Amino acid sequence: MAQNRETFGSRFAVVAALAGSAIGLGNIWRFPYLVGEGGGAAFIIIYLLSSIFLALPIFLSESIIGRTTHKGTFGAFNQLAPGTGWKWASLLTVTASLIVVSYYSVVGGWSIDYLAKSLTLSFNTTSADAVGGMFEKMIAAPWIPLLCHTVFLGLTCLIVIGGVKKGIERFAKITTPMLFVLIVLIMIFSVSLPGAGEGVRYMIHPDFSKVTGKVVASAMGQAFFSLSLGVGVILIYSSYMKDDENIFETGFGTAIFDLMFALLAGFAVMPAVFAAGIEPGTGPGLIFSTLPYIFAKMGLTMPWLSAAVSILFFLTILVAALTSSISMVEVVVGCLSEEKGMSRKKATAWVFAVAWVIGCLCSLSFGPLGDVKILGSTIFEACDKLVSNYLMSFGGLLFTIFVGWKMSRKAVRDEFTCGGTQKANCAIFNVVYFLIKFVAPIGIAVIFLTNLFL
Ligand code: PHE
Repeated sequence: MAQNRETFGSRFAVVAALAGSAIGLGNIWRFPYLVGEGGGAAFIIIYLLSSIFLALPIFLSESIIGRTTHKGTFGAFNQLAPGTGWKWASLLTVTASLIVVSYYSVVGGWSIDYLAKSLTLSFNTTSADAVGGMFEKMIAAPWIPLLCHTVFLGLTCLIVIGGVKKGIERFAKITTPMLFVLIVLIMIFSVSLPGAGEGVRYMIHPDFSKVTGKVVASAMGQAFFSLSLGVGVILIYSSYMKDDENIFETGFGTAIFDLMFALLAGFAVMPAVFAAGIEPGTGPGLIFSTLPYIFAKMGLTMPWLSAAVSILFFLTILVAALTSSISMVEVVVGCLSEEKGMSRKKATAWVFAVAWVIGCLCSLSFGPLGDVKILGSTIFEACDKLVSNYLMSFGGLLFTIFVGWKMSRKAVRDEFTCGGTQKANCAIFNVVYFLIKFVAPIGIAVIFLTNLFL
């Protein structure tokens, strides 16, 4: 292992950081609404199967590459396959990370605005339309979302500048467990609302008639996005793991926490959506236009409780988004400082500058730049589609094919079993290797083609 390279201090730190990256906006707004569209529990079953058979092998592939080399994406490929095109291909995954953090921080910024609105008791209208209108107005008005995007990105970069141990690890160790406490509190509140039963039923009723090819692809894609795969996040975090850390246990643990959080978030959001009588399939705006309505209505009779839950809710979203965005920035910072010899501060400043500009364009695409279309999508939608539909699949394919077909079986086995000392990992190695070599690449190719043609 390279000298002076930082590592996470303990297994708890590793899992907190990995789970912190995995748990984010994908769990809180995307998951509940995809569940609704995709036939409730039927979608959850497909999501679960894809997490185990598809996402976990990609996760483990990234982990194996990162931990073997203790390098960031570019350096890792350069070390394992010097003089080949792999390292250039891997740069695309680093670029993907930069694009995700750009538009992710726009949505992260919205949560800052809504946290401020909660603190100033601004949800004081009892018409669902008015609350929806408030959201539309907020994202379209250019200055406030731009300011919030800047603050969110700034906070992210400050944590990253702190370093692996003093920045990322310290933040994740406190906030990841806190997120679970917060989401459980909100879930209890949500399921006890009048009319919430319908939402609970919506979450658990399997309706297989809604399952189409597109739904299967979206469940697989969600498993991908939710576990932060294909953009080098898992690779770089694993490169900060100690050599005797158990790769399978940390990967499996992260997947379980991520899944648990998604389910909790589903039960926190969906019952409230039904209690408010709002259409569940409205996409990114869902949580911003639904929950404030509930808070506003409740505020008429119980203003303090309403304010408290509303603050907790938007704080949860903000913190969940931050623990994810720091991991995206770290991918690029790790690469720049390793390859270009830049200081952490300078590398982070570069990432801030580029992500800020792209993010501003994304933010403005909800207002003044709304008419600028790239292949029929706004700038924000185009960035999201490019990353979630194509670049993440590309990254997943790159990592699994590299581990399954380019690295030697022995090298993979040694890394996965810690030189044969982790007996349980030895026992499952053949199955895992088969999943990495055949099942995952085929599954990813299916998602890719479905997204391209359906
Ligand atoms: N997993 C994060 C979420 O669910 C998103 C993410 C994608 C994070 C890619 C890092 C890298 O919101």
